[in-house]
Amino acid sequence: MAASVKWEIEDFDEVDSTNTLAVGRPPWSMVRARRQTSGRGRHDRVWVSGEGGLWFSLVFPVNPANPQVACLPLVVGLALYRVCGRLGVQGLRLRWPNDLLAGDLKIAGVLLERPAPDRVVIGIGLNLSNHPEQESTELKGMAAALSSLIPEAPDREKMTRSILDELGGLFQAFETAGFSSLCGEINRCWGGVRNVELEVDREKLFGEFMGIDSDGNPQLRKPDGRIQAVSGPYVWKLTEIKK
Ligand code: BTN
Repeated sequence: MAASVKWEIEDFDEVDSTNTLAVGRPPWSMVRARRQTSGRGRHDRVWVSGEGGLWFSLVFPVNPANPQVACLPLVVGLALYRVCGRLGVQGLRLRWPNDLLAGDLKIAGVLLERPAPDRVVIGIGLNLSNHPEQESTELKGMAAALSSLIPEAPDREKMTRSILDELGGLFQAFETAGFSSLCGEINRCWGGVRNVELEVDREKLFGEFMGIDSDGNPQLRKPDGRIQAVSGPYVWKLTEIKK
């Protein structure tokens, strides 16, 4: 995808979910809203989406025969990491597959859906100057907005443009050089080794999260030192375990 691709942008004050709307749109559509009344997160969670945040969804065409489409969420996470990294956010890191955090506070999340074999909907939620922890008491100590982390957070227009530009370059690299060309950089974004629990089908796996392999699968170091690659698409959820 050329970095200069023109997205067909539709702006709304309020929608239920930009992802839900984008599912019915053609490739290269972008749906953005100031508020979502039923913002959706991964694992069927609610995504709190009040005024001040950046909520948008992109319809991106993919090759149905490319198995690496499953790695796209990681690529989107990298784009968000690069953009926020340039703003000087301290303690910035990714949590597999694509949560963006500052320390333990979540700043952004990505919901990728595949309504048809030849396209994906990439939903991006970025806490810009909203107050997630005030909108939902459950988020206290778990989420933060960029404006509370850096002296001057960019406005949503500038932030949208930076993310689209970054995605343009990364999607191009993904298509021409393949996902493995981005793996090294992604593996430097995890912010160190952490103990995690992976829910896989009906099983729970424990170990130290050691990053991803060249297919985007999470790798666990077991207590005996063995490395176990877990098939990413079967991982329902990753939870970090505090020592
Ligand atoms: C997550 O971390 O659980 C993913 C959150 C994704 C939220 C975004 S906001 C724009 C788009 N519309 C939605 O309903 N969800 C995504």
